[in-house]
Amino acid sequence: MLAAPQAFFPVRAPHFRFIATGDASKNPIPRAWADGSIYRTQRFNAFHMIFPDGEVFFIRSVQAFVPQIKDPQLLANVRAFVGQEGRHGREHSRFLDVLRTHGYEVDSWVSQFRRRLEWGLGFFPASWSLAGTAAGEHFTAEFARIALDGRMDQHHPDLRGLFEWHSIEELEHKAVAFDVMRQVGIGYGTRMMGLALASYTIVVAWYRAAAHLRRQDKLSRAELKRGRKEVRERKDLGLRHMLGAALRYARPGFHPNDEDDSALLATARNSLVLEPA
Ligand SMILES: [Fe+2]
Ligand SMILES: [Fe+2]
Repeated sequence: MLAAPQAFFPVRAPHFRFIATGDASKNPIPRAWADGSIYRTQRFNAFHMIFPDGEVFFIRSVQAFVPQIKDPQLLANVRAFVGQEGRHGREHSRFLDVLRTHGYEVDSWVSQFRRRLEWGLGFFPASWSLAGTAAGEHFTAEFARIALDGRMDQHHPDLRGLFEWHSIEELEHKAVAFDVMRQVGIGYGTRMMGLALASYTIVVAWYRAAAHLRRQDKLSRAELKRGRKEVRERKDLGLRHMLGAALRYARPGFHPNDEDDSALLATARNSLVLEPA
């Protein structure tokens, strides 16, 4: 009997401590953990609020099509995809405790976002949710390329580890939802509908989550202006990256593996620290 195929990528189990306050020798996470800039930190923190329920949406959208998948290799990749995404959601969700300890109110926003995604899963055809997930995965792969370019090097080691681990796995499984979409016969029109849904949802959720946190910081106009300047100067993730990624995805013959991330992945895997000291 032939052995069942292995997924093309592993499911790792990191252990980040995420200590918010207390003994300084344990390297607690400061409020402005992104190079001391609270404005930039909140743009990253917004992802902790989006990912846990976003990953659940991705997993449920793909799992709905598992009975139609005939290729055992793709099934193995789907299982590993679910394992990776489940752990991403769990670790980002754990980090929300740090935000709560720092005094931020996050739960009203997170539960509202969860209700909206659940509504979307029930309202839209399953093929649209899968197409939205495939496009969402293309965007998270693009975010991963930016996160792995060295910009996290000076950040707190737990946050650096969290974002780099997540980024590596996003690049490893970037084609899984897309391949499921192709295997179940979803065509270009629905793929583009998914691109529109994913673009809108990610941009709106990201900006609203960051704004929810920044309102609680009560930043002055001058601080906001300085923050926006820092984002520009650091060339942080922004709309232009998403627009570029969307245009590439809209090419009719596009496949996620057309974009070769092997060198970036090899370097990132070499320096990945899953249990920061
Ligand atoms: Fe993920
Ligand atoms: Fe993903």
